[in-house]
Amino acid sequence: MAPRSFSSLAVLIVLVAAASTRGASGCPASDRAALLAFRSALSEPYLGIFSSWKGDDCCSRWYGVSCDPSTGRVADISLRGESEDPILARAGRSSGLMSGHISPAICRLDRLTTLILADWKQISEPIPPCLTSLPFLRILDLVGNRLSGPIPADIGRLSRLTVFNVADNQISGRIPASLSALSSLMHLDISNNQISGPIPSDLGKLRMLSRALLARNHISGGIPDSIGHMTRLADLDLAENRLTGEIPASLGSMPVLSSLYLDSNRLSGRIPATLLASRGLGILNLSRNAIEGEIPDVFSTRSYYTALDLSHNRLQGSVPRTLVTAAYVGHLDLSHNHLCGAIPVGSPFDHLEAASFANNDCLCGGPLPACK
Ligand SMILES: *[C@@H]1O[C@H](CO)[C@@H](O)[C@H](O)[C@H]1NC(C)=O
Repeated sequence: MAPRSFSSLAVLIVLVAAASTRGASGCPASDRAALLAFRSALSEPYLGIFSSWKGDDCCSRWYGVSCDPSTGRVADISLRGESEDPILARAGRSSGLMSGHISPAICRLDRLTTLILADWKQISEPIPPCLTSLPFLRILDLVGNRLSGPIPADIGRLSRLTVFNVADNQISGRIPASLSALSSLMHLDISNNQISGPIPSDLGKLRMLSRALLARNHISGGIPDSIGHMTRLADLDLAENRLTGEIPASLGSMPVLSSLYLDSNRLSGRIPATLLASRGLGILNLSRNAIEGEIPDVFSTRSYYTALDLSHNRLQGSVPRTLVTAAYVGHLDLSHNHLCGAIPVGSPFDHLEAASFANNDCLCGGPLPACK
């Protein structure tokens, strides 16, 4: 019996020691102090979400904060200003408002895995660069605020980061070269900011990436060929930027690409035939560029487009005949080009409206007036 009671005593000592480093109950005093400093840089007047941030037990009673049960350290901060959250419903509001800035004190929470501070509309000032020193960070979601300044230059240090979302802010500067080092990244959303400069040429190194959303910025330069070598990328949105050059043919050999938005850029050259023929691509928007040449006539029974928008370009030649073999074409827009000749007969052309073909050089046949 003696050895056994000795070992339970040892376990007890370990537990007591662990509890004392955490304070009598709740989180370590240093984590609590960091949270209070983080809170003091923010102001949230309507919901009172910070009114629960008092007392010692930041791990169980503080709204939006949770801890890792094995370490007792603060692991998650999750505060959303737009959600089905009961706190919003109770206050009779559909969205929240928070101003202030993200205090660098948050970087003292060195076991943080999740930081969500989303849709508060008025949190401003730059993203603290020290966030890149949080080695366990997996989710960084700061969407829908008024953050300014650049993406931290050494963002690539966050080797566990799977979600990086800073969309709908006022972020400026370039995409840091180190972004391509985020080897765990699955979801990248920097849309709707003021980001300029080129896309890093080795972005294709992000082998886990499934969504890359970079739309509505001032991004210039070409679309890197390396993107076409991303085997898990399903959604690529580069719309409304200042991209130039040709569409890399490599984009046509991406195994799971399902939506591609390149509209409202300054792209030129021809449409790669492999891209139009690519199986699994359901949405393709190339509208409002300077794309020229003929539309490759490469559709097949494997083509299934919910939307195919090639409008407002410099396309020539005729409407591809193989479109009638496509399994499905929902929305088709070929307007504002230089197409000519008879529109083929059959599906999908029998359910499309004249607007899909408007403002070309000399198209004719239903839904346009009959050819002479
Ligand atoms: C394609 O992009 C253009 C220009 O950005 C936009 O006006 C149009 O609605 C988009 N088409 C589809 C089908 O989403």
